[in-house]
Amino acid sequence: MERHQPAGESAGSGEHRLWGGRVAAGPAASLDDLNRSLPVDQRLWAEDVEGSQAWVRALQGAEVLDAAEAGSLIAGLQRVAGRLAAGAAEDAHDEDIHTLVERLLYEEVGTLAGKLHTGRSRNDQVATDSRLWALRALRALAAAVRALQGALLEQAEAHLDLLMPAYTHLRRAQPTRAAHWLLAHFWAFQRDRERIVQAAERVARLPLGSGAIAGAGFPVDRNALAAQLGFVAVAENSIDAVGDRDWVAELAFVGTLGGVHLSRLAEDLILFSSDEFGYVALPDAYTTGSSLMPQKRNPDGLELARGASARLLGELTAVLALLKGLPSGYNKDLQEDKRILFTVVDTLQLLLPVTRETIAALVWREDRLAAATADESLLATDLADELVRRGLPFREAHHAVGRLLRIGEREGSPVTELAPERWAEAHPLFLQPSLPALSATASVEARCASGGSARPAVMAQIAQARAVLAD
Ligand code: ARG
Repeated sequence: MERHQPAGESAGSGEHRLWGGRVAAGPAASLDDLNRSLPVDQRLWAEDVEGSQAWVRALQGAEVLDAAEAGSLIAGLQRVAGRLAAGAAEDAHDEDIHTLVERLLYEEVGTLAGKLHTGRSRNDQVATDSRLWALRALRALAAAVRALQGALLEQAEAHLDLLMPAYTHLRRAQPTRAAHWLLAHFWAFQRDRERIVQAAERVARLPLGSGAIAGAGFPVDRNALAAQLGFVAVAENSIDAVGDRDWVAELAFVGTLGGVHLSRLAEDLILFSSDEFGYVALPDAYTTGSSLMPQKRNPDGLELARGASARLLGELTAVLALLKGLPSGYNKDLQEDKRILFTVVDTLQLLLPVTRETIAALVWREDRLAAATADESLLATDLADELVRRGLPFREAHHAVGRLLRIGEREGSPVTELAPERWAEAHPLFLQPSLPALSATASVEARCASGGSARPAVMAQIAQARAVLAD
């Protein structure tokens, strides 16, 4: 294919610009440095080509292009895609990806390229490209979240009968199962995945065919365009369509909340893998050493997961601040949206795999867990529950157990080793008919309502988790 000279509208400069007929000279270098978005938006090249090919079909449908012209433009865009896949954007100096694609198209098909932008504006074009990109990114994110959920679920299934303390206020509260703790995180990520799906439904509204602000000046079939590009509906209002970035804010929120969940999981694991807790060991591949202290094995991946979620929160704040006070329609401020979008997605795509692998490779330290769950203070609630079963109102039972614990402190003895008279001193029902039998296992099995720690309840939970993962 013979190469044509770029035939931009810009006068004199020799470079291809999508505008410039009205102005004598190109932009100042300082403005160009600020304005040029190619370094960021070149990632949209595949979507820009795809959207342009669909637009060619729409123009053909509207009889703006004949079949031969449409065929040449689509084939030319395909060659442009090939060049971009081979790195044509790397050393390009165009203003943005839309300008670059059009310049390359001129090189491929000559002046016919000038017909592509009929009825279209970069305003509806960039909104379409970035929504297309986001739809793919959301699908990939959902898959990565799902994989992490799979790792949590497998650990839960493998450690159904491993007991651990559950915490409130970061103080030992009651015994539970390691599986129950793992699944607690599973459900948070399930909500993230649901939010991703719901957000995608709103992303999949097609802006293309809205023109710059007031709509396309040619009778293009936008429903056909939507179907071709995989959108579920067309945006109802052209003014809204070119200025709407609610979906970026929503994606940033969904991503940030996912980051918060990763951070909370990371924090649990940092604590549980510390010398003080020692419930799990992080495999060597997921720790790093200290340059000074030879003994250190630091949980850097988890710390970075905790830290990176702070940055996500910054992106969410940025997009909301960007939109607040913006006049309706397209404003160049909106060019910032892509940095935000890419940062949120890239950050999560770094955090999710390493978190999944860390979970999959966790080593549980059963001796440490056995020692921790042997702490009889975890069973105080069970003692109160037993007095309830023996007829006492719960509030009185709570006080009776409190008295018993105080007696234990006074005698310097675990309550399980106190003489029966001491128990009777706390409350006579403790001996009727006999001292309650206490164990961590009995405690978890007593939590038999759905959503609790008992074996059948956790097995039912695992079955539910399997079912939502299969969806
Ligand atoms: N690079 C621009 C962006 O990301 C493309 C849209 C430009 N539109 C315009 N009217 N200058 O938003």
